[in-house]
Amino acid sequence: MSEKDFLSRKPSLNIEHGEVSCFAPSNIALVKYWGKHGLQLPKNPSISFTLNKCRTITRVVFDKKESKGFDFEVFLDGGKTDSFKPKIQTFFERALPYLPFLEDYRFEIHTENSFPHGSGIASSASGMAALAMCLIEIEKKLLSENPPTHKASFLARLGSGSACRSIEGGLVVWGKHPKIEKSTDLYGISYPYEVHQVFKNFQDTVLLIDEGEKSVSSTVGHDLMKQHFFAEKRFEQAGENLEKMIPILRQGDLNGFINIVENEALSLHAMMMTGNPGYILMKPNTLKVIEEIREFRKMNSANICFTLDAGANVHVLYPYSEREIIQVFIKEKLAGYCQNRNFIEDSVGTGAECL
Ligand code: PMV
Repeated sequence: MSEKDFLSRKPSLNIEHGEVSCFAPSNIALVKYWGKHGLQLPKNPSISFTLNKCRTITRVVFDKKESKGFDFEVFLDGGKTDSFKPKIQTFFERALPYLPFLEDYRFEIHTENSFPHGSGIASSASGMAALAMCLIEIEKKLLSENPPTHKASFLARLGSGSACRSIEGGLVVWGKHPKIEKSTDLYGISYPYEVHQVFKNFQDTVLLIDEGEKSVSSTVGHDLMKQHFFAEKRFEQAGENLEKMIPILRQGDLNGFINIVENEALSLHAMMMTGNPGYILMKPNTLKVIEEIREFRKMNSANICFTLDAGANVHVLYPYSEREIIQVFIKEKLAGYCQNRNFIEDSVGTGAECL
């Protein structure tokens, strides 16, 4: 598929008013996307687990209007939230060729997250994915036909890169990789090869180390990769790590998995620290948790590891079969490093849906 396959015609049906609701989960990258070019195209391929409980639910009410141009309001948890408008305005501008009806309706976008906004849990990913799902649902009604597969992911990418991995469930690949069939920079695809049972219901406990807004946005971080001294090597490393994941995922090789996942998390943060200007999003408790996890793994021969997004929070990853001992460790030890002892017990989920 190419960009032009997602272009759309003007709706034939004249619907005056309607309403749709969809939810999309967050996702956690195992091999990280960091650095972009063009219109939200990744500089390297990535793979993620789609989560289950960490999600955004969005309801869009649409009313036909006479005048042309964008007209929308955004509500977060019932309250009007103008701070979201610039991001959605940019998204609408990018999406217009693919959804020409965006100019013909007035939209009310009501959105709710099951986790704190801007805390480094990918709320922009689930938020943009849920909105893209709603717009596809509206397009379906207006054209009375199904838009091409992957269009929701394609649109979500235009809103926030990693959001394109929040449509499908399980393991999702985004970005062209010569060893992964049908992988593309344009949208996320379900990981197409054999996956060992152990990775099908993997657990992810998200430790909320710092629930505040992060000091440097992902947009700024991606931009710094444009003249980063280590950029080319980093993109190469991500491609190599993704390739190494193929036998690991097939064989259920937990040691190999832990090795790559932690290497990716630390490499992502190393890019932030060694950029110019460099910055640090980890907090002292992020490092304490990393040390605790590594110590616990050694002492208990447990298959527990950590990963990080662009923030201070830690995602603790472990197999379902080991959840009892690991969840006790999290409650008794790691919760103490979280803000207000807050954490979310999540696991691999099935992807976005409309209600
Ligand atoms: O989708 P963005 O632009 O918010 O970038 C987020 C990138 C990371 O979360 C840090 C890594 C990833 O692949 O999800």
